[in-house]
Formats: sequence, C-alpha cells, structure tokens
Amino acid sequence: HGTSKVNNQNHLEIGGVDTIELAKKYGTPLYVYDVALIRQRARQFKETFAEEGVEAQVAYASKAFSSLAMFQLVNEEGLSLDVVSAGELYTALLAGFPKERIHFHGNNKSYEELEYAIKEKIGCIVVDNFHEIALLEELSKKHSWKVPVLLRVTPGIEAHTHDYILTGQEDSKFGFDLKNGQGDKAVAHAFHSPYLDLLGIHCHIGSQIFEVTGFVMATRKLFEKIASWKDELSFVPRVLNLGGGFGIRYTSEDTPLPPSQYVREMVTEIKSQAEKLTIEIPEIWIEPGRSLVGDAGTTLYTVGSRKHIPNVRDYVAVDGGMSDNIRPALYEAKYEAALANRMNAPHEEKVSIAGKCCESGDMLLWDIELPKVESSDILAVFCTGAYGYAMASNYNRMLKPAVVFVENGEAQLVIKRETFEDLVRNEVGLKSKV
Ligand code: LLP
Repeated sequence: HGTSKVNNQNHLEIGGVDTIELAKKYGTPLYVYDVALIRQRARQFKETFAEEGVEAQVAYASKAFSSLAMFQLVNEEGLSLDVVSAGELYTALLAGFPKERIHFHGNNKSYEELEYAIKEKIGCIVVDNFHEIALLEELSKKHSWKVPVLLRVTPGIEAHTHDYILTGQEDSKFGFDLKNGQGDKAVAHAFHSPYLDLLGIHCHIGSQIFEVTGFVMATRKLFEKIASWKDELSFVPRVLNLGGGFGIRYTSEDTPLPPSQYVREMVTEIKSQAEKLTIEIPEIWIEPGRSLVGDAGTTLYTVGSRKHIPNVRDYVAVDGGMSDNIRPALYEAKYEAALANRMNAPHEEKVSIAGKCCESGDMLLWDIELPKVESSDILAVFCTGAYGYAMASNYNRMLKPAVVFVENGEAQLVIKRETFEDLVRNEVGLKSKV
C-alpha cells in the first residue's frame, strides 16, 4: 500500500527509497514514514468535507506521532492540530505551527499549561471539567482575553474496540457527563461566562473504530442535548467536534471503512439533525491520529538470535521491541511483517518475533509465516506509524530509534537515534564524599 513496493533487488522500497539502504545508513531499529501516504490521507479527509460542502477542520491528533517535521508536514497540508500537553504545544510552536489552528486537550491541564496556551492565544481549549473552567476564568481575567473553548462531553456511547482505549463511555475520566446534568451545567456556565467564548461541543468515542454507527449515535445524542440547550439557553454550537478514532488495517483481521466514508456518514447525520432543529449546520471538526499516520509508518529491525523449542515455537529476536513499540505488550496489538531484504522469497517457516528487553511479554508478533529467517535479515513491521515511536521508552536503557521521512526517492532524517549521552543528560551523580 502507499508507495511501498518490491524493487528489482527484491527489497522493500518505500517512497522510492530502498529500505535496506536506509537500514545500512541509519541503523536499526528505524522508523520509516511514507510522506506521500500521509499527505494522501490528509487530503482525503479534507476533500470529503469539501465535497460535502460543509465548513470543517481536520485536526491531527499529535499524540499518535509528534515531531517538528511531522508538525511542519501537517501544516503544509493545511490541517489543524490537537495537542494534549505543554510539551506538544511547545513542539508545535517551535515548528512554526499557526497558533490559531491549535486545539488543546487534556483532563488535567495545569495552571501553567493553560497560561502558556492563553499567552500564545491558541485556537481553542477543549475544556474537560469544572476545575479547568475555574482556572480558565482566572487566567482570562489576568490576561484580559476571552478564551475560545469547546466543552468535552461524554455521550455514553461505547465504541467497539479494545477496553483500554475506550473514552466515550460513561465510566470515563474524560469530559462532562451528559446523563447526570454535568454537561448542561457546564454549557450554561460557559455560555454565560464573560471570560469564555463557547464555540461548541466536543466528544470522542474511542479509537481504532471500524463502524460508523458509534459516530452516528454520538451525533444523535449530542443533538438531543443541543435541542434542549437551544430551547432553554438559546445556545447553538458553532462547532461540533466528533474527535478521532477512525480505524486502520493492521492485519487481515481488521476491516476498517475508507476514511472518507466515516466522514461522509457523519456529515449526513449532522446535516439532517441540524435541518430538523432548524439551525445552521455547525462547523464540523474531527481529530484523526492513527488514520493519518498509522499505515504510513514501518519499523525496520535487524534479526539477531533465535531459540528453537521443539514442537512448541521458534523465537526470532530483533534489535528492538517493547521499547520502540509497546502496543503488542500493552494491548495485544497485532501486526504484519516481512523480510525487507528478501521480499519475494517463499514462506518456509512459522516464527514468533521477540524483542530484546528483559521481559517475557516483550514480543512483537506471534506465529507469523516468513522465509527461513537468518541473523542479519532486516525485518519490516508494517503499520507502526501511530502510537509506536510516540509511546517509545528507555526501558532497559534502550536508545529511542531514529525516524526518517521518505518521499520521491529521497530520505530525510527527522529524529536522530538517541545516544548514550542522551540517556544520562539529566542525571546528577552522587556528591563525592571527601
Ligand atoms: N481525540 C481525542 C480526544 C483522543 O483522545 C484521541 C486518542 C484522538 C483524538 C485520536 O484518536 P485516533 O484517531 O488516533 O484513534 N495508545 C492507543 C491509542 C490511544 C488513543 C487516545 N486518544 C493505541 O496505541 O492504540
């Protein structure tokens, strides 16, 4: 998919660049991003909204993968940006990302984080709770700026996905509950507050979602509420943000819809609900993370040791693991892989790919078919672009890998591999006893 293909040397090529050359030049583990594919995904979302003739913002959920280069790319494609910490905000501003297109999320933004965002006058703050409303009103007074906000609500919709990544259901740490009146109270307060400019409502029902039903149900729930806010407060949202969560295909078991289809059905529902209420169609915002970068990322590893357990399993170990991709260990996430240096070789054995961290759970893939795997082979694991590098750690003092962007036959190093010096940069040894 994307610009990936097998070249005449039987190597995996991405963006017109031979991945074996990349592994030689930059070392492994290496994250490789297919920039053309990211652009294509971004344009699909934007074009679908344009075809539907509605005002929209597509905000990249930067938690999926953030870096200066990524933020520059997102800006080149004219997307907005969802940040969830002062760290992401700092990186975005350093990348020159337009402030007015940055949205700030999070269930426990600190006073300092909010003040940072307000001083920079970013596009909007997605308010999560009453504590945050109080902080924002105080900061609005201090800086004499009416803060543009969305209110995040929990519509009580469960999306079908892994439990750990459900955020839209009622029992969630995020947002104002719609069922017990919290949402109504927050809307009334924010709408009347001289310190807040209530742009609209936000909800996010989960991640890696394959069906559009959840989004449609969430939309209906929101409109039930909008009807009552319109009657009781004369508040009509200018913006409706339905979050992210559009699923991608990691393995053949996954059956996502094309990204445009989620958008199309969502827009259709919003249009018809708005018509019923005789209100203007609100601006529609979405926050895709995974679906913009997930399948554009490939991780390259070098194969090292093996362990054969007769009648049980063959373990093949690579030079990375849970330190660069914790998703298999954390969510039992599944991936597909191939030998990048022998792409067309017939499959001859079933192996399980182990990482090199000191933990039995450090496995990347179970029971996959590959050609006879040898030490020094380059293993490519596909679809690692979202929540891979972003969730990497220094467990076992592993060095975070390098990241390269490839496009039109050119490779650009966008994040350097960590060094041993990086590992101890912030450390202070014991004072010597004299
Ligand atoms: N908006 C909000 C408010 C979110 O909480 C999230 C993801 C997104 C947008 C983007 O969702 P996406 O389009 O990427 O599904 N670490 C997990 C995923 C956590 C998602 C957290 N929130 C994983 O590796 O699967």
